[in-house]
Amino acid sequence: MTTNNDKYEILVKIAKKRGIFWPAFEIYGGVAGFYEYGPVGVLIKRRIIDEWLRQVVYGRDGLVVEVDTPIITPRIVLKASGHEDNFTDPVTECLKCGRTFRADHLIEEKLGISAEGLSLNRMAEIMRQNNIRCPVCGGELTPPKPALLLFKTEIGPYKGSPAYLRPETAQGMFVSFKNVFNSMRNKLPLGIAQVGRVGRNEISPRQGLIRLREFTIIELEFFFDPEKQEEEVNKYMDEELLDEKMNIITADMKLNNIKEPREYSALELIEKGIVKTPWMAYWMAVGNKFLRSLGIPADKIRFDEKLPEERAHYSEQTFDQEVLTEKYGWVEVAGYSYRTTYDLSRHIKYSSADLTVFRRYDKPREKEVIKIKPNSVEIRKRFANKFSEIMKALASISREELVNKIVKQGYIEVNGMRLDKELFFIKREKIKVHGEKFVPHVVEPSFGLERIFYVVLENSLKISNERTYLALTSRIAPYYVAVFPLVSGSKEEHQNIKNIAWAIYRGLLNSGLPAYYDEEGSIGRRYARADEIGIPYAVTVDYETLRNNTVTIRERDSRKQERISIKDIYDYIIDKIGFRKTWIEFLDKELNKA
Ligand code: GLY
Repeated sequence: MTTNNDKYEILVKIAKKRGIFWPAFEIYGGVAGFYEYGPVGVLIKRRIIDEWLRQVVYGRDGLVVEVDTPIITPRIVLKASGHEDNFTDPVTECLKCGRTFRADHLIEEKLGISAEGLSLNRMAEIMRQNNIRCPVCGGELTPPKPALLLFKTEIGPYKGSPAYLRPETAQGMFVSFKNVFNSMRNKLPLGIAQVGRVGRNEISPRQGLIRLREFTIIELEFFFDPEKQEEEVNKYMDEELLDEKMNIITADMKLNNIKEPREYSALELIEKGIVKTPWMAYWMAVGNKFLRSLGIPADKIRFDEKLPEERAHYSEQTFDQEVLTEKYGWVEVAGYSYRTTYDLSRHIKYSSADLTVFRRYDKPREKEVIKIKPNSVEIRKRFANKFSEIMKALASISREELVNKIVKQGYIEVNGMRLDKELFFIKREKIKVHGEKFVPHVVEPSFGLERIFYVVLENSLKISNERTYLALTSRIAPYYVAVFPLVSGSKEEHQNIKNIAWAIYRGLLNSGLPAYYDEEGSIGRRYARADEIGIPYAVTVDYETLRNNTVTIRERDSRKQERISIKDIYDYIIDKIGFRKTWIEFLDKELNKA
């Protein structure tokens, strides 16, 4: 029997042998929290990104666009975003060996309880009460303190200005929001997506691809008008999305000690008020479909609503999307956060830029405005030699402040002098307004690419007595098809077989289908190598090909073979990968609706 650990060992072995992934900087002994993708891993990773872009970004009725913003981020941006003050983990240090650990993880490992979001004092207390000591040398541990997870750097080589590596791509979308909004026809709702590397200086990461110090986030910030959310979500959410079933553990369930998730459709999440904005349900449904399309069974996916103390500083509601793994148990692969106006408001405050959007009213509305003008004759009478100083100071005060102080408070103080209401002309007027400015709200679906990569690999790895193969769904396979020339016939015939196989291989590549060529070793070994990296189809050119221009084509999982004509290979693969089927089904559905 294969145990979970054996399976993991087999996966890691195949990953290294077949160029999928391995620990980085290996020739220097490796550094925890850094991994490299090999040539095959790069392709699988790219296909997952492509699928994400297709389903989550470009397949969303034009709602989402993509940007690419810098990794190195001036300090002010991450000060404004709240990361500099909040992006910390609790660290404890061993007084004997000097190693550092995450206090919450030690508590979770030792006691099997969740320590996420507990205060430092509470963690210190739990550690003391349970005599939690260094897991390596048994030494005494310090009470936990916050450790900043941002990687520091400087911009400019000499006395550079302070900067950080971005810990999320999201700030790129907030900071560029106005430029994207303006260049994309000034319309909400608008999603801005990004695929990018981020850095988090994790405390002693020990979980392979699951906890990295540098990794890829694929996420989008979805900006919307909270006053129009119901009407807009109705426009974009089709039956299929509304009906998407998800396994949910709500915060309320957790507080009532209910551990088993309940199934809700996206529609139920909205109707029962489980989500604080319907757009949250929309993105959770999109994300659930996306993970299922990568081959993860629905019953191995669940959403865990975070309790207030478990949420990031910017979030009003968060659901973690988790996948059940054999090696690590439930692993968070994505987070869905309702970031409200938090980030844009903070950037407005720190940059003074106008990041608001204009909401046009359906019909102009009447509004009372208060106009205030200093009565210069009276002010001159009262403050003769201070007159110009006062007038100058008044000119620099905003209208809102004048109204607040003079109308509501009854006076205003200017350079230490009190000016009473009577020194101003105050007029109330009714005007017609056509709209107003507001700060858009934001929901963020954010996926950790390496975690998805890992769960997909683990889930796809099939091990039997006979063989080991990666049952990747076709669209994320590194290559769609392998081409093998069989050793057969005379030397000349064999050369012809090779020429034909080579031509098929190049033809597939030229037509845009990722293909793989292998002529080394027995055909059995070649199938085994292709199976181990998840290639779904293998074409074999043999002696019969020379006679009738046909080849065998073998499907990876069933190992069934068919004989087809060379000229049909391209269409066969396209059909099997499902592109044509997607097109036809989509048209059928949409045209029937129309
Ligand atoms: N942007 C989401 C995160 O940092 O986790």
